[in-house]
Amino acid sequence: MFQRRRRRPVNPSRVHLARINRRFARSTAPEMLVLDAGAGRGPYRRLFRHATYEAADFAQLQTGYTQLDYVCDLTKIPVEDGRFDRILFNQVLEHLPDPPAVLAELNRVLKPGGRILCSVPLYFHEHQRPYDFYRYTQYGLRHLFEQAGFQVQRLEWLEGYFGTVSYQFKMMATALPKDPRRLKPGWRIVYLGPLLWSTRLLASMLTGAFARADVRWKHVKSGMPKNYLVIARKPELTDG
Ligand SMILES: C[S@@+](CC[C@H](N)C(=O)[O-])C[C@H]1O[C@@H](n2cnc3c(N)ncnc32)[C@H](O)[C@@H]1O
Repeated sequence: MFQRRRRRPVNPSRVHLARINRRFARSTAPEMLVLDAGAGRGPYRRLFRHATYEAADFAQLQTGYTQLDYVCDLTKIPVEDGRFDRILFNQVLEHLPDPPAVLAELNRVLKPGGRILCSVPLYFHEHQRPYDFYRYTQYGLRHLFEQAGFQVQRLEWLEGYFGTVSYQFKMMATALPKDPRRLKPGWRIVYLGPLLWSTRLLASMLTGAFARADVRWKHVKSGMPKNYLVIARKPELTDG
């Protein structure tokens, strides 16, 4: 008997994040010291095995954490100035009540000439409540990084618009009620039931189709991004 192989759902954000973090790791020399700021479970730790990796997080959530070198708020990292060559700062900026204070602290602990990689959502639901404070436009991000003393080298969409569309369909597929009777629609169930059922089905099929499309083709000419990516540098003391 043939068994239909179920395709694993693709999360284009994870694919793009893995790619960009891999590239950042490749540009990290073995003698370098890396800080994962707001490391969480440390999904990128293994990419930096060839260098020295340290993790900081306030560890206030009921989730697992990677082994942490610094349990601290990111406004006060207990290390000397200019300790790190590289900083990873993935999916953390939206969770901070005082983003300028944290960016100033990250700038302090980064070496002159060192680089930071930041990814942060724009179109994404509230998560890790109640620690979810902000969403940023590209102009807000540039302003925050420059105010903190960084030179922005890259500021772009992490995924393309198809990634955002896929996410919208995913939200639709999960947010619509499975059982239309819960809406207490009375006789309207006759048409509401099939409408909800077929919309959910279509939405879950389109989630996968747009996700796969986004991995192959990053369309950034229209729509809005799910996440932004920033790569910024702390200027050398000798920079004009
Ligand atoms: C969405 S998770 C991202 C984790 C990881 N960087 C990743 O990419 O999977 C956000 C992380 O930021 C941490 N965090 C939030 N606010 C913080 C703060 N004020 N100081 C230190 N860590 C914080 C949380 O504990 C959590 O691990």
